Amino acid sequence: MLRLDARNTHAFLADDALAKLQPTTLDAHRAVLDASGAGAEYLGWRDLLLDPNDALLEDLTSTATRIRNQADVLVCLGIGGSYLGARAVIDALTPYFPPGEPEGGRGPEIVFGGHHMSGAYVRQLLAHLEGKSVYVNVISKSGTTLETALAFRLVRDWMEAHFDDAEDRIIVTTDPERGALNALRQEKPYKKYVIPPSVGGRFSVLTPVGLLPIAVAGIDIRSLFYGAVQACQDLHTPAPVDHPALTYAALRTGLLQAGYQIEVLATFEPRLNGFGGWWQQLYGESEGKEHKGLFPAVVQYSTDLHSLGQYMQEGQRILMETFLMVEEDGGDLLVPSTAANLDGLNYLAGQTYTHVNRQAYEGTAKAHTEGGVPNLTLWLGAVNPSTVGEVIYFFEHAVAVSGYLLEVNPFNQPGVEAYKQEMFRLLRRPA
Ligand code: PA5
Repeated sequence: MLRLDARNTHAFLADDALAKLQPTTLDAHRAVLDASGAGAEYLGWRDLLLDPNDALLEDLTSTATRIRNQADVLVCLGIGGSYLGARAVIDALTPYFPPGEPEGGRGPEIVFGGHHMSGAYVRQLLAHLEGKSVYVNVISKSGTTLETALAFRLVRDWMEAHFDDAEDRIIVTTDPERGALNALRQEKPYKKYVIPPSVGGRFSVLTPVGLLPIAVAGIDIRSLFYGAVQACQDLHTPAPVDHPALTYAALRTGLLQAGYQIEVLATFEPRLNGFGGWWQQLYGESEGKEHKGLFPAVVQYSTDLHSLGQYMQEGQRILMETFLMVEEDGGDLLVPSTAANLDGLNYLAGQTYTHVNRQAYEGTAKAHTEGGVPNLTLWLGAVNPSTVGEVIYFFEHAVAVSGYLLEVNPFNQPGVEAYKQEMFRLLRRPA
């Protein structure tokens, strides 16, 4: 179970602020449960947890095993919700420095593409693939996203030029019927996984969008999925008003109402950096509309205390901060003692790295509170597939509730079309 420590918000909110927000928070929570709020046709991310498809999990695991056995590299092409979740989970749950070569049981290298329009990147990616056994998972609900479609055109040509069995090495993850990838499949019978139409991109990490690459990375997708199932079931009653996800939604809404404009998600574990990217899209795209919403920013401490720490402490007082912390960070080190103590670090001798990192967090939370930055901390017991599944659902449910508190539709993204129209006009795309 996740634990939320909100003590460092108290001084920044009226005494009764949380109590006043609780009735509307419960209403918003009920609107999620009974699908009575705006955009309710996009609540498929809950439905898939309430009625788990074990056969799909098995099928994905078996495809992943085939790829793990045969590939040196899996290229995942996708952007936004079609890649951020997979990247977040893979970063969180795989070693920083994977041991050995692929044939040593490490599994294939997983590289991402189609998430920007850098020709240099694609050129270097194709060069990197030379001489390797390559599989491709192209992930696009619409099939028409330019970044992904363009990269796929080049990667597909490369695959066809390099492998007689290219068709067996390409897997598409897309809408059940619509879009360019389905049109392509009429000629090329690529294996296909489906993104349910009722699941928006940023909520799709627990569909094949995220689950196939995550399984190829050797992660137990069943534990991941069922961690989220458990979290969903824990929130599937109308009245847990003090549930951490509802408290989180209420507090950040209260702070927004109190004039804070930016929420900074801060981690003290580099493996959770990718998670910040996923969270940023989830919250930015769900809430940033009708000129409303907290702007979601991400920092990785203690690294960024040496760059953004000054602003956090003394810049404009429009920031609130959410720390994503881990009780057990896994694999600790003791600081050794040295006889000469020339670096002056013997005062830390015998302490664990975790202890030092923890004091950095405690010190930061205190300094930021005193500097006028309200902050709260979400504690995970450990980073494993089940807890990562749990935290995914935590943030998904909380943003749905938060969006309703903000009185926006948390499930659409009308604003992302504007730049595309201008870009396609400049590129002279036919109507
Ligand atoms: O959350 C979203 O809807 C977006 O980030 C999409 O996932 C992203 O634009 C990619 O779209 P598509 O999967 O259609 O290529």
